[in-house]
Amino acid sequence: MIGELRGDAERWLLSYYRASEIDGALFFGRLAKVIRDPAVQYDLTRHFADESQHSRWWTDCMDDLGIRPMKVVSSYQDAYLEAGGAPANVMEVLAVTLAFERRVAGSYAAHARVPTIAPQIRATLAKIMKDEGWHIQWVSRTLENLKPSYGADAVTAAIERYAAADREVYQRTLAEHDEIVRSLDHFKAA
Ligand SMILES: [Fe+2]
Ligand SMILES: [Fe+2]
Repeated sequence: MIGELRGDAERWLLSYYRASEIDGALFFGRLAKVIRDPAVQYDLTRHFADESQHSRWWTDCMDDLGIRPMKVVSSYQDAYLEAGGAPANVMEVLAVTLAFERRVAGSYAAHARVPTIAPQIRATLAKIMKDEGWHIQWVSRTLENLKPSYGADAVTAAIERYAAADREVYQRTLAEHDEIVRSLDHFKAA
C-alpha cells in the first residue's frame, strides 16, 4: 500500500516535470523565433534547446523506471501569466522567466534532498539542475544589461511584480508539489 502511494506520487511528479519542461521548451522556442536582439537570441535558443532536452531526460528516466507519463492538466506557466499580467516586452518576458526559473531550481533541489529517491531520478535531477543554474545566470545578466534601455526602476519593478505573482501561484499550485516531495520521504519511513 505504502509502495503504491509512493509510486503514484512519483508518477505524478515525474509527469509534472516532463510536462513543465515541454511547456518551457515551447514557450522559449516561440520566443527564440521572434526575438531580434542577437545576444538574447543566442542565449534564448540555447535555453530552448535545454528545456527540450530536459523533457527528453524525464521521459527517458520514466521509461527506465517503467513509469508511463500521465496527463497533467494544470499548466504552471498559464497560472503565472494570469497572476502577473502578460509581459509587454522582452524585458518583462525575462522578468517572468527569472521568477519561474528560480522556482523550478528550488523545487528540483528540494526533491534532490529526499534521501530515498531512485538513482535514475537523482541523476536526472543533477543533470538538469546544472542547466537551470545557467538559465538563472543568463537571464539575470541580460536583465541587468537592459537597464539602460528600459530604465533601472522599470526593470526592478517588473522583477518584483513577477516575484509576487510567483509567490501567489506557488501557494495555489506548487505548494502541492512540495507536499508530495515531502511525502516521498514519509512513505519510506512509515
Ligand atoms: Fe528545464
Ligand atoms: Fe530552465
